[in-house]
Amino acid sequence: MSGPTGIDILAADDRYGARLATCRTRARARTGAMSGDLDRIASRLAGDFAGRRYAAIPPAWRDEGRRRAAEDDVAARQWFHSLLAAFIASHEHYLSRFHAVPLLLASYAVEFERILDWMDAEEGQVRGESFGFDDDVFLKDLGLVSGRLIPCLTRVGDPYGGLPRRAMLGSAQGILRMLPYALLSGGGFWPYLEIHVHKPMWDRLRGRVDGEVWRKAYRLMAAAIEALPDLRGITAASWLWDGALSEVSPHLHIHRQIAEAHGARFLDLGCDEETRISALARSERRRELCRQGRYQPRRVLMVWSRRDLLRWARDSCLPHVAIETRPER
Ligand SMILES: CC(C)(COP(=O)(O)OP(=O)(O)OC[C@H]1O[C@@H](n2cnc3c(N)ncnc32)[C@H](O)[C@@H]1OP(=O)(O)O)[C@@H](O)C(=O)NCCC(=O)NCCS
Repeated sequence: MSGPTGIDILAADDRYGARLATCRTRARARTGAMSGDLDRIASRLAGDFAGRRYAAIPPAWRDEGRRRAAEDDVAARQWFHSLLAAFIASHEHYLSRFHAVPLLLASYAVEFERILDWMDAEEGQVRGESFGFDDDVFLKDLGLVSGRLIPCLTRVGDPYGGLPRRAMLGSAQGILRMLPYALLSGGGFWPYLEIHVHKPMWDRLRGRVDGEVWRKAYRLMAAAIEALPDLRGITAASWLWDGALSEVSPHLHIHRQIAEAHGARFLDLGCDEETRISALARSERRRELCRQGRYQPRRVLMVWSRRDLLRWARDSCLPHVAIETRPER
C-alpha cells in the first residue's frame, strides 16, 4: 500500500512518472475480467467514453454493466474493477492533454493509487447496496481514470460544465451581479470546470482541511484551466458555498473566503429538499441549528472566472507549482 494522502501533491509532482508507471503495472494485473487484449480494449474505451460527462455511460456499456450486475456478486465486482483497471493501464491515451502539466499528472497518480488500493481491499468481497453504474462514487472514479474528471485534492472538476442561465436570470442579484461577471470576466456561459465533491477524496482529508489544503486544491483547478484553454472558469452549486457556513461550520467556509477575496461571485439559488438533506447528512451541529431555526441550508452558485483564478494562482506563492502562464483571454 503506497498510502498517499493527496496532501503532498504539490511537493511530489516530480515523482509522478514513476508513480504512474507503477499504477500501470498494478492495473495491468487486474484487467483479466475484460475479454480481449488491452490495446483493443483501450481503443474501444477511448472511442466510447470520450467527450461524455462523467455520469453519461455509453448505452452498450450500460447494458453490459446491467448484465454483469445480475451475475454473482464477486464476478460482477471483478468486471467493474477491470473496467477501472483497463483505463488506468492505458492512461496515456486519456491523459495526453495533460502531458505538459506535471502537477495534474501527479494528482492523477495519487487518485490511481487510491483506486488500486481500494480494489485490493475489496478483492473477493460481496458488493454493497449500490455499485457500478448506479453508484456516484464509482462513476466519479470512472470519470477520473478516463480523464473526464480532473482530480483537485478535495474535489473533482468536470470540464464539460456550464452556468445555469435560467437561474441567473431569475433574480435581481443574478441579473445585476452574476450575469455581467459571467459575460464580461468569464466571457460566456460554457464551458466551465464544474466542481463536485467526491467522497473518498473528501474523507481522506476529513478533519484536516484548512486554508492551505484549499489553496492547493484551487492551484490544481488553475492548472486544469491552464491546460484546457477553452474553459472560461470554475463553477459549482451547493450548500457548501453558502455564506451562512461562516457561523455554522467555519471550517467549510474557508474555500468560499479564498475565492471571494479574489474575484469569485456567489448567487443564492434558494432552499430545496435535496440541498437540505445533503447539508444535514453528516453534521449534528447543523441539524441542531436547523431544528432551532438558526440555520436553513441554501443552495449557492459559485463562479470564478478564468481571468481571476489565474491571476490568484500567479500571485499566490505556493511552491513546486509547474504551471506556465499564458496571456489572459
Ligand atoms: C459534503 C460532505 C462530504 C461534507 O463532509 P462533512 O464530513 O459533512 O463535513 P464536516 O466537516 O462539516 O463534518 C461533519 C461532521 O463530522 C465531524 N467530523 C469532521 N471531521 C471528522 C473526523 N475526522 N472524524 C469524525 N468526525 C469528523 C464534524 O465535527 C462535523 O460534525 P458537527 O458539524 O456536528 O460538528 C458531506 O456533508 C456529505 O457527504 N453530504 C452529502 C452529499 C453532499 O452534500 N454533496 C455535496 C453537495 S452537492
